[in-house]
Amino acid sequence: MSDPFRNTDLLADADARQALGRLVETCRRFADAVPEGEPAQAAALEHILEIAGTEVRGGTLRLAPAAALPGPVVRLYKAPLARGRLKLQLFPLARGEAHPPHAHHDLLSCQLVLSGAARMYEYSLLGRPDPASVEVREEGARTLAPGDGVFTLARRNNIHWQEGLADGTVLLNVNWQGCLGQAEAAPGRRYLDWENRRPGPAEGRLIVPERTVA
Ligand SMILES: [Fe+2]
Repeated sequence: MSDPFRNTDLLADADARQALGRLVETCRRFADAVPEGEPAQAAALEHILEIAGTEVRGGTLRLAPAAALPGPVVRLYKAPLARGRLKLQLFPLARGEAHPPHAHHDLLSCQLVLSGAARMYEYSLLGRPDPASVEVREEGARTLAPGDGVFTLARRNNIHWQEGLADGTVLLNVNWQGCLGQAEAAPGRRYLDWENRRPGPAEGRLIVPERTVA
């Protein structure tokens, strides 16, 4: 079987590579027994973020100084799970650069700031008023420093977008695709037509068209 790790030369040193390996093992154990229900899933992902955040703040999990990332998404790890697959990747962001608003299908994920600073705008998925739109509730925006992170679940915080606040910002993205066992024709990330959002039925709610997937 080919090595599931890639681009680990972008990490600072052997300690950082070991920290990545520990995080992968923690993430795989989570997938072995994904808890039922969003409160338990949220608690488990918050715990993973706490572990990873401690490694980042303590300087163990860090990138090589001035590491030049070879693309907008850099894979660190990808391997199948008993159900679905686990992926860890890097998202570099320049100041003012943003990943556009998107929903996640049959996917749980964590995003953690490795360096720089980012602003995360989060929305929970309330439902689908029609097959081509989502109804969302605004959950507010958070400014994240290195070691800080957020997570997405099937409903809570399912929709988000992220913006770099400093040049050299790098996010670590961890995602478990297919582990919820939802029947999805197009799992993963699905972009929203944010320009055409409209007010929902109550304060803080929005109806947003979802772009169809080719
Ligand atoms: Fe995302």
